Amino acid sequence: MGRTVLIVGGGGREHALAIGLIGSPSVDLVHVAPGNAGTASIATNHKVSAGDVIGQVNLAKALNADLVIVGPEAPLVDGLADKLRADGIPCFGPHATGAMLEGSKTFAKETMLKLGVPTAEVARLDIESNIDDTLEKFGSPWVVKRDVLAGGKGVVVTADLDEARKFITQSIDSDGFVLLEQFLPGEEASMLVMMDESGFVPLPCSQDHKRVGEGDTGLNTGGMGAYAPAPVVTESIRNRAIREIVEPMHKYLSSQDVPYRGCLYVGLMIDSNGAPSVVEFNVRFGDPETQVTIPLISSDLCDLFLAVAEGRLAENTPTFHDAFAMTVVLAAEGYPGPPIKGVEITGDFTQYTGLEGRAFIHHAGTTFQDGKLISSGGRVLAATGISGTLLKARNLAYQKLSEVHLEGSHFRQDIGYRAL
Ligand code: AMP
Ligand code: GLY
Repeated sequence: MGRTVLIVGGGGREHALAIGLIGSPSVDLVHVAPGNAGTASIATNHKVSAGDVIGQVNLAKALNADLVIVGPEAPLVDGLADKLRADGIPCFGPHATGAMLEGSKTFAKETMLKLGVPTAEVARLDIESNIDDTLEKFGSPWVVKRDVLAGGKGVVVTADLDEARKFITQSIDSDGFVLLEQFLPGEEASMLVMMDESGFVPLPCSQDHKRVGEGDTGLNTGGMGAYAPAPVVTESIRNRAIREIVEPMHKYLSSQDVPYRGCLYVGLMIDSNGAPSVVEFNVRFGDPETQVTIPLISSDLCDLFLAVAEGRLAENTPTFHDAFAMTVVLAAEGYPGPPIKGVEITGDFTQYTGLEGRAFIHHAGTTFQDGKLISSGGRVLAATGISGTLLKARNLAYQKLSEVHLEGSHFRQDIGYRAL
């Protein structure tokens, strides 16, 4: 009998997961809560918000779900996985303590320090600290991080001393403390690692584009586009990251009373000598990295996720397509500030399939209202291309993006520029 899967969340990542799972031979029904217009078209949406832990547990029970996959971090930090497991429902996503690796940057740093995992030095600043001395000691550019879940927007990287000082003071005012981190030069990449106590499987590495503007300028966002596999992560860098980061993290996480079962997202900085360090951990799939990673998995997706959720990953060896994927995010006017919502989106949303590959739309902040497709978030949708080369994947994604229209929206023209 086919399986019933519940996906928690409503962004582009969850649409990508839903598309992947619909294509799984072992899956019968896919439910998404709350979902978006994209998931509504291929699965069943439920009006339960991702952060409503009790609501999600009740939904999973009512659906008799064989597997729950949690997209965003907040419900994991709030113990959704713990509650599902207590009810005997397999959950892809770590328990609350494991989720602290993303929920608390301080906890993540302490863990890395303890395990000797390479990462930037950090100072904790509060009302008692001598801020100017510490700023001088660290030197420009300054990396200031609020230790709160801020959807990738609680970080300021700046060479402007006044801006750094202002963000530090504001953050201490609102949170009581803030972190100042040593700047790591290099190129970033995302390593998504499927992990449980029996083993781990790194998925093809990707590269996100976190700044809103071309050439990686402007404000940080949740991510404006991504591609995979990212050539910057050579075989030897990948092996080094596994040896120096993933293996110690796996050994540590699998030795805990409750083992970590889910995705460990390793945000890497790779320096000019090819040495990787950790910029951040996330305890979930990345968005938009998922949109370029899931389509590259060729084996049964549900078997893989369920194996992790049940602690049997060692029994599952996923296979991958020999292809490249690129996704380009279309953001609403105003994003990454408060976005303008409620605007109609028009155009051709059908999947393109041809000799060159395929291209399709991943929905994120979209909803149906009176039969119309309406924007409902900052990152509205993304166009994704899959092909045999990165250049072809890029061309397919941008071609598809040109076929949809949202007044006032913006996107980056240069996704993938470092690799192309
Ligand atoms: P985080 O939320 O910690 O991932 O930070 C958001 C972004 O800020 C990262 O993706 C990097 O682009 C940048 N960043 C964070 N920490 C550092 C660092 N120590 N050195 C250089 N850039 C950083
Ligand atoms: N794309 C960055 C993230 O998911 O955190």
